[in-house]
Amino acid sequence: MASVATRVAIYPGSFDPITNGHLDLIRRAAQQFDELVVAVLRHDTKVASFPLKLRLSMIAESVEQMPNVRVAAFDGLLVDFARREGARLILRGIRAVSDYEYEMQMALMNRQLAPEIETVFMLPAEAYSYLSSRLVKEVSRHGGNIENLVPLHVAAQLRKLRHAAAEPTG
Ligand code: PNS
Repeated sequence: MASVATRVAIYPGSFDPITNGHLDLIRRAAQQFDELVVAVLRHDTKVASFPLKLRLSMIAESVEQMPNVRVAAFDGLLVDFARREGARLILRGIRAVSDYEYEMQMALMNRQLAPEIETVFMLPAEAYSYLSSRLVKEVSRHGGNIENLVPLHVAAQLRKLRHAAAEPTG
């Protein structure tokens, strides 16, 4: 029998920027959970290419047709954020076997910290199995075509980033 409790899932990441691979996973997850919170890490050891506000707005624009998906920023431990949101599920995408080791370590660490929260892995469409924010930025930086890899408004931001980087600094 179906439970009456709302199933909230957190989909965390850097989203620097969101790609069509992330979006594919969000679409799939939005059909499986009552509510999906796309959670963007505010402070990371990695330096982000896009400021947090822009990463959030690029995601918000990408999911505006999905009523049960919202976007939030978080700081500190992911499991603390999940608890504050009343979520007992963390969603992560696995593209290939190479993702598995890192994901398993994170999932087990999160389980150690919060045994009541489960990590759920989902596969994006195989067409996106090679896609990452890092590679999209690299292709864009060198002037390659990224329009099939990210939403159009994200492609526009990537072009802006490329032009800003190309400007002489005086
Ligand atoms: O998109 P990414 O960079 O692979 O996402 C990594 C993220 C944000 C999910 C991970 O770094 C994270 O959860 N950071 C928050 C700090 C935390 O909770 N660390 C303990 C879990 S190992």
